Amino acid sequence: MKIGVLTSGGDSPGMNTAIRSVVRQTIAAGHEAIGYYEGYQGLIDDEFSILTSGDVGGIIDRGGTILRTSRCKDFFKEDVRAKVAQRLIADDVALVVIGGDGSFRGAEALGKLGVRAVGIPASIDNDLYGTDFSIGFDTALNTVIDNLSKIRDTASALERVFVVEVMGRQSGAIALYSGLAGGADYIILPEMTVKVDDICARIGAGFKRGKSHFLIVNAEGAGSAFDIGNEIKNCGGYDVKITVLGHIQRGGAPSAQDRLAASVIGSRAVKELLEGTAGVMVGMSANKVTAIPFAETFGHKHQLDMELYDIAGILAI
Ligand code: F6P
Repeated sequence: MKIGVLTSGGDSPGMNTAIRSVVRQTIAAGHEAIGYYEGYQGLIDDEFSILTSGDVGGIIDRGGTILRTSRCKDFFKEDVRAKVAQRLIADDVALVVIGGDGSFRGAEALGKLGVRAVGIPASIDNDLYGTDFSIGFDTALNTVIDNLSKIRDTASALERVFVVEVMGRQSGAIALYSGLAGGADYIILPEMTVKVDDICARIGAGFKRGKSHFLIVNAEGAGSAFDIGNEIKNCGGYDVKITVLGHIQRGGAPSAQDRLAASVIGSRAVKELLEGTAGVMVGMSANKVTAIPFAETFGHKHQLDMELYDIAGILAI
């Protein structure tokens, strides 16, 4: 058996760490490791390299992915998938797919065509059900809180209100966790409605009690920081500035937590395939490596712990 590895969807810090783990665990088990380029596009075009231990040296601490990635629309076509499956089965290749839920839907579809595939959760959004943390989430949080501290310095100097937009199309996980860890004064999540009056009241009370700044962290999925900022300007005449952190949240050296998770999960993903298991996402729950069927990860939403939101609100007073 050969074990192929690919990265698919939005990149996240820690993907290279996971690639390194999959390749070296495969070689240690006496099998050949294959890296497919640009996600599922590489499977379609049969663009790959046989990977040696040396090929994955020096990447444990590099963001991005040496295999590059893609959001491959062609892979939704059944005839395209069938051709890919036929080739993988003929070549006796089992797959490790590193990505998010869209990538796992592709892996599950290949499974239905007879290809053995397992998934490794990697998305800064941390929106995958069945794992406490997706690879990349912790690194993204550290990037955001580092920038919140920098913004707080200048906000205090000029007594300003800042609306800081973070990534997270559907999930408010980055906003919630970075808002709590970064000491935000207000957090806006896609999982709730934006209450501008409440925000204005909090700003007024804050400045009244002597705050020298007011930091709002909003998830992009809850709306544009520019729109929210304009509404706040209108309601209180505050000096409001906007910072959209954007793609810096997707880069950088993976944190220790992301490297540990990627290393352990990558190794377990290979072992699952070697033991004959397929069709599962290998994640981490309560610090234990787990394997749950793909269908379970699609069937549920990764729920935010809203107690964290309440605590953040209390600690912001
Ligand atoms: O899914 C991860 C993510 O970073 C989202 O948080 C963000 O909205 C999206 O990808 C950005 O996609 P792209 O990199 O294609 O602009």
